[in-house]
Amino acid sequence: KSLKTSQGIHFDQYLDNGEMADQLNKWLLEVSWEVANKVGGIYTVIRSKVPITKKEYGNNYICLGPYNDSFVKTEVEVGESKIDVVREAANEMRQHGVHVVTGNWLIEGFPQVVLFDIGSAAHRLDGWKGDFFEYARIGIPYHDRESNDALIFGFCVFWFIGIFIDKVKQRQKSYVIAHFHEWLTGIGLIMTRLRGYDCALIFTTHATLLGRYLCAGSTDFYNHLPFFDLDKEAGDRQIYHRYCIERAAASCAHVFTTVSKITGIESEYLLRKKPDVLTPNGLNVQVFAALHEFQNLHAQNKEKLNAFVRGHFYGHYDFDLDKTLYFFIAGRYEFSNKGADMFIESLARLNHMLKAAGSDMTIVAFLIFPTSTNNFNIESLRGQSVAKMLRDTVQNVQSDIGKRLYEICLRGQLPKGEQILQPGDIIELKKCIYASQRSVLPPICTHNVNDDNRDPILNALRRCRLFNDRWDRVKVIFHPEFLRSTSPLLPLDYEEFVRGCHLGVFPSYYEPWGYTPAECTVLGVPNISTNLSGFGCFMEEHVNEPQTYGIYVVDRRFKSAEESVQQLAQYMFDFTRLTRRQRIILRNRTERLSELLDWNTLGIYYHRARQMALTRIHPEIEDEMLRFTNESLSNQSTPVVSRSSTPAPPDHDDEGSDEDEEHHTPQTSADQKANDQTYRPSFPRPASATHLPLDKQFRAAAVAAANA
Ligand code: UDP
Ligand code: G6P
Ligand code: GLC
Repeated sequence: KSLKTSQGIHFDQYLDNGEMADQLNKWLLEVSWEVANKVGGIYTVIRSKVPITKKEYGNNYICLGPYNDSFVKTEVEVGESKIDVVREAANEMRQHGVHVVTGNWLIEGFPQVVLFDIGSAAHRLDGWKGDFFEYARIGIPYHDRESNDALIFGFCVFWFIGIFIDKVKQRQKSYVIAHFHEWLTGIGLIMTRLRGYDCALIFTTHATLLGRYLCAGSTDFYNHLPFFDLDKEAGDRQIYHRYCIERAAASCAHVFTTVSKITGIESEYLLRKKPDVLTPNGLNVQVFAALHEFQNLHAQNKEKLNAFVRGHFYGHYDFDLDKTLYFFIAGRYEFSNKGADMFIESLARLNHMLKAAGSDMTIVAFLIFPTSTNNFNIESLRGQSVAKMLRDTVQNVQSDIGKRLYEICLRGQLPKGEQILQPGDIIELKKCIYASQRSVLPPICTHNVNDDNRDPILNALRRCRLFNDRWDRVKVIFHPEFLRSTSPLLPLDYEEFVRGCHLGVFPSYYEPWGYTPAECTVLGVPNISTNLSGFGCFMEEHVNEPQTYGIYVVDRRFKSAEESVQQLAQYMFDFTRLTRRQRIILRNRTERLSELLDWNTLGIYYHRARQMALTRIHPEIEDEMLRFTNESLSNQSTPVVSRSSTPAPPDHDDEGSDEDEEHHTPQTSADQKANDQTYRPSFPRPASATHLPLDKQFRAAAVAAANA
C-alpha cells in the first residue's frame, strides 16, 4: 500500500494504524478554520501536532477545515478518501450540492483532510441561520461576513459529523471525539451538542474575542478583568453574536481548554468558564546530532541578510557587518497587542544608549507585519540592483586581474601595481561608486504602504525619529509582507530569516501563547517576550532564571509602561554588549530548551483532554483507557515528562559549548504518576544558574552596562 504523492514523497509509514492505538475503535476529528489554510498561529498548532496525533490515532485521525483554493493547490494531495466512512459521508453531502474536497495534507504525518467549500453551501445560509436561532437562540446579522462563513462552515461540519457517526457505528462499536479550535468553529460544536450526538466534544480557545478587542483599545485590561460588563462591551464593539458563539461553545463542550494559564484566567472572567485542561502549544523539534550544525545555519542565513543589508544601505553603508546585530519582531499586524509600539519606543532608547556609550555596534531591527501595500518601493529595489552591479563589476575586474597575473607570471616576471589594476578597471569601478551615491536616506520601509500616513508603525518610527541616519546606531526596516523565499528583495523563508537573526523581540500586550518566541527558542535564537504572553509565563514557570538561557521576559504586568519600555531597552542594550563567543554560547543554551516545547513533551495535555471528554460521555471505558495510558507511558522511550530541561553536558568539541553545567536527575514518569493523579507534568527546574560561571559573565556584563 505504498502511497506516492504527485510530489514524489513516500508517506506509507503513516498509513499504518497509530502505533499507540488502544483496543477501542476511537476516531478523532480535529476542526479548525486553519486546516490547510494559514492565517496565524493556530495553523502552526494543528500542523505541528499532526505527527504525534497520528502516532496515537493512525488513520482514524481526520482534519476538517474550509476549502481555500490557493492553499489546497500547494498543500493538499486531493483524492477520494481511502477511508470508507469518510468517502461515503463526503459523497452524501456532495449529492446535496456541497462541494467537499478530500485528500491528504502534504505535511509531516500526511493526515486525511476534509475541506468544505463555503461558497457552494452559501444558498443555505438563511435556512441555517434560522435553525441555529431555533436551537441556540443566537442570531447572526446579515452584514457580518466572517460570522456568516463561520455559520456555513459550522453547519457543514455538524452535517458531516452526523453522517460520519451513523456510518462508523453501523460498522462496529466506535467512539468519536471532535476537537474544535477557536470561536470560528464554535457553531459546529454547539449544534453537535444540542442535537445530542454521541460525540465527545472539546473546545480549545486560542484567545478570547473580547480579550483581543479590549486590549487593542486603550483599556487597562488585566486590572479590570473581573469588572467588565461583558454584554455591553461586546455590544459596543458589535461583536455580541460572535461573543455568544464563543461563550456557548465553551459551555457546550465536554472539555474546555485554553492554550495558557493567562488565557485560562481570562476565560474564567470573560467566558465565565474555567478551562478543564491547559493545552500549551508545542512544536516539532528538529534534533541536530551536533550543536555546530544549527550554528552553521545561523552563519549561512546571516550571510543572506548581510547581502540584503549591503544593498538596502548603499551609499550609507558605513558600518561594519561584523559588528552588526539583527533584531526582529514579526506577526499578524496587531500593532499594540503584539507590542510593536513598545518595541519601537525601546529601539529609540537603545539608539540613544548606544550613542551615549560610544558603542561601535550597529543594530538593524526588522519589523515584519503584513499590511496592504502597492508593491516594493523603487528605492529598496534600486539598492539591491546597485549592490548587484557593483558586485558583478568587481567580479569581472577580479577575473581580468587573475588572467593578467597568470600571463605575467608565466613569463617569469613579477607583476607591477599598474599592470594589475588598469585604468579601464578604475573607470568601471568609479562608475559604480558614483552610481551608489545617494541623496536620500535608506528607506525605513521596503514597500509602498497604501495607508502610509496613518500606518501605526510608520508613524511610530517617524515620531521616534528612527530614519536610518548615518549617526543612528539603530537602523530600522519595516517589511510589510510575510517573508517568502521567492521574494526578489529578501529571498528567505521565515525560518531561514529567524535563524539568521540574533534576537527576536516580542513585547506583546495580548498574547495567549505566542509561537514566534517559541519558534525562536527551538531554532536556538535568543528572544524577548513578556509576562503577559502564554509563552513568557510558561518559561518563567518551568525554567529557573530563563534569562541565562537567552529567554528574556519583560514585566508588563506589574510595571508601568515606562518601566517596561526601559527594561526592554536595557535587555537589548545588554545583548549588544555580549561578545561573539558569548552569543554563540547563549544560542546553544537557548536551543537546549527546545525539549520543553516539543510535542513529544506537551502532547500529553491534548491526550488528557481527549480522555477526559470521552470518559465524560462514556464513563464505562475509563478503566480501559487508563490502563492503556499507563502502559503506553511506561513503554515510551521518551516519556513525556521525564526529560530534564537542564542543558545536557556539553559536547566537548562544540564551538562555544559550556562545560560547567550541572546535569540533573530527571523525575521519572512513574514518579510523576504516583505523585499526581491528574497528571500535570512539571519540568524539573535546573539548579540555580548562579552556579554557572558563564552566567556570572553575562550578569557582570549586564551590571556593567547598567552602571555605565
Ligand atoms: N509567521 C510566518 N511568517 C512571518 C511571521 C510569522 O509564517 O513572516 C508565522 C509564525 O511562524 C507563527 C505564526 O505566524 O507560527 C504566528 O503565530 P503566533 O502564535 O505568534 O501569533 P498569532 O498570529 O497566532 O496571534
Ligand atoms: C555561528 C558560526 C560561527 C560564527 C557565528 C557568528 O556560531 O558557527 O562560525 O562565527 O555563528 O555569530 P554571530 O552571533 O556573530 O552572528
Ligand atoms: C492565537 C494567539 C496566539 C497563539 C495562537 C496559537 O492566534 O493570538 O498567541 O500562539 O493562537 O495558539
